[in-house]
Amino acid sequence: MSKLFHSACKAARSLIASSSAPAPRAASSLLADGRNAALATLANLGRNSTLPAAYAHHLHTNASSHGYAWIAAIPAAAYMLQDQDVHAAEMERTFIAIKPDGVQRGLISEIVSRFERKGYKLVAIKLVVPSKQFAEKHYHDLKERPFFSGLCDFLSSGPVLAMVWEGEGVIKYGRKLIGATDPSKSEPGTIRGDLAVVVGRNIIHGSDGPETAKDEIALWFQPKELVSYTSNEEKWIYGVN
Ligand code: RTP
Ligand code: MG
Repeated sequence: MSKLFHSACKAARSLIASSSAPAPRAASSLLADGRNAALATLANLGRNSTLPAAYAHHLHTNASSHGYAWIAAIPAAAYMLQDQDVHAAEMERTFIAIKPDGVQRGLISEIVSRFERKGYKLVAIKLVVPSKQFAEKHYHDLKERPFFSGLCDFLSSGPVLAMVWEGEGVIKYGRKLIGATDPSKSEPGTIRGDLAVVVGRNIIHGSDGPETAKDEIALWFQPKELVSYTSNEEKWIYGVN
């Protein structure tokens, strides 16, 4: 069904996107067009022999003799797609890095999955070994602290998994997922609380505010490395009732 829904949505979306015709048209007319295109797609899919035979038959029968009950979902799908675009523009981004201890301990998938399962979207990722000079730039706000040099030595001692995650409130809530700086004080259930023991090996970094996030993303990634896309899940993660 999701394949079917996706195709219908794609048809509706491309119709809406192609609305920049010479004379601007009313949104309702575009939606109606999108609905019709999506209907056509669904009807074709209903006849498509690659669908399981029983399901194709079910679709076809319903479409032709039961008043198109399933069609009711299509305008909603078109609306949801529009909402997604609005949402995407409002999303914030944060810089998250798995430090050399997290990478060496095989915790990449565990950590990535916590952000994924929450509903945040990965928009950039790469494995790098930063130089000490680069680490000093990253932690420049801590340069007066006694542990600064050791911290930068450690960050540049091996591979770091650098990432950018996107989502509503991701900067602040990302820090919650990560937990307190000192793992002995991090709550159980947080990344540091569950997976680390001491402050000098707390496995993960997360931007601590919007300005820091912007600066850190710019330090670690070139703009072209950030991938903007609509995730299929967004319509299930965001919404207002
Ligand atoms: P991060 O920047 O790595 O996400 O950590 P944070 O915001 O929770 O904490 P921050 O104060 O920015 O400290 C940066 C990193 O420095 C190390 N640290 N060592 N007393 C110590 O030995 C000490 N205090 C901090 C930690 O690795 C911390 O993540
Ligand atoms: Mg910090």
